[in-house]
Amino acid sequence: MSRTIKIFDTTLRDGEQCPGASLNPEEKLEIARQLAKLNVDVIEAGFAIASQGDFDAIKTIAQTVKGPQICSLARAKKEDIDRAWEAVKYCEKPRIHVFLATSPIHMEKKLNMSPDKVLKTAVEMVKYASSLCPDIEFSPEDAGRSEREFLYKVVAGVIEAGAKTVNIPDTVGYTTPWEFGQLIEDVIKNVQQIKEKNITISVHVHNDLGLAVANSLAAILAGANQMECTINGIGERAGNASLEEIVMAIKTRQDILGCKTNINTKEIYKASRLVSNLTGMLVQPNKAIVGANAFAHEAGIHQHGVLKARETYEIMKPEDIGLTESKIVLGKHSGRHALLKKLEDMGYKLDKDGLEKAYQRFLTIADKKKEISERDLEIIVAEEVYVVAEEFQIESIAIKSGTKTKPEATVVLKHKGKKLKKVVKGAGPVDAVYQSIQQLTKVKASLVDYTIQAITGGTDALGEVIVRIKENERIYVGHGADTDIIIASAKAYLAAINRLIFATGQQ
Ligand code: KIV
Ligand code: ZN
Repeated sequence: MSRTIKIFDTTLRDGEQCPGASLNPEEKLEIARQLAKLNVDVIEAGFAIASQGDFDAIKTIAQTVKGPQICSLARAKKEDIDRAWEAVKYCEKPRIHVFLATSPIHMEKKLNMSPDKVLKTAVEMVKYASSLCPDIEFSPEDAGRSEREFLYKVVAGVIEAGAKTVNIPDTVGYTTPWEFGQLIEDVIKNVQQIKEKNITISVHVHNDLGLAVANSLAAILAGANQMECTINGIGERAGNASLEEIVMAIKTRQDILGCKTNINTKEIYKASRLVSNLTGMLVQPNKAIVGANAFAHEAGIHQHGVLKARETYEIMKPEDIGLTESKIVLGKHSGRHALLKKLEDMGYKLDKDGLEKAYQRFLTIADKKKEISERDLEIIVAEEVYVVAEEFQIESIAIKSGTKTKPEATVVLKHKGKKLKKVVKGAGPVDAVYQSIQQLTKVKASLVDYTIQAITGGTDALGEVIVRIKENERIYVGHGADTDIIIASAKAYLAAINRLIFATGQQ
């Protein structure tokens, strides 16, 4: 097979820019580790100048995560490029991604710059970035709405200045597949330096019209060799092109696309769950590839066909994305060793401390739930192992509630070695618990979203709660699971509060 398409993952940069998906540095590192297992070619780890948190996360990822290139975004400004370089320089294969808008509307209304000034700045800044970092990518932002001749000039200019990858973004998700494919073909045909210098043409497409993946595939057919995308398609507004959809389309339709990627597709499902758990962005059940229903066959006629020959209704195998049947795997009497072995089989490598936390949580769940499935274990790992430092912890919760009683919660939290207790009545048990937690932690944040769903079937299933709270225009997400939905709700709310404290240094 001929071409290998590079996968440039921007979950931690463009993905994290979507409202409510903010991640702290530890969570970003965890996701970056999973992206390395997926074997993506480039991780865009953040926008170094945007905040100290972003800078720290990129730097830690550059220092620790081996395999993929680590990249930071930078505007076409010296201070941005310096900051990006400071963050990525520790990595074996650093990259700086410089961008500047080239569409008439962006140049006039946003940048207030003439086209000549844009061209000059892009060239100067790519030259400057190349003097620091061996691998520079340049994006003419809003290329999808830029004038062709001007776009060619900018692309030629930045290549002469040292860019090795030129990324053509459809920033606003406006183009259709045939237009976008034509745009890529035209750029390649009209900028001779692309062939002469063996430049990688990349695309970055937003999903405002639901066409991001279709546009990306059209770009492959037109000659693009790098796809920018995110896990679960998260990103600003309607999101970015989804990594799993592009990768599985390339794998499944080699006959028409004629190329491959370096992705270890068996890590896709785990990456999807991790990103969903840490960002609190639920995956819609009918989402292609990773949605809960993507491989489910409810209709009798389908089940019948699939039992006889899978290919009747399945074009991909669930195992290809690492989705094993959520088998019943362990029970109350399974020991530490069995748990470790099972987690290792599922691809989790826990250190001693992580294993101990997972085991204690496993015992608590196994006490209430007879059979523990792989899905339950995923939740245990997500909740017990991938967590930030907890300022407050739940010591105990008791609820009084019923048809003739005003619900009352007694909540005891641990804080800096002390136990703090509050008894509060509320409109319902969750309200009573949330008021108690709010009064004990004294964190002033408004609850903007609360969702609950059952993880596995049965009345003893784990209930999973995702909560979003808002303070000073920033959203913090909390995730909690338990067989008792009031406890799951309390965990989710307290997790969001702990993240707020961690991020803002309150307390
Ligand atoms: O959507 C966009 O244009 C971007 C650029 C910074 C590449 O995210
Ligand atoms: Zn974007």
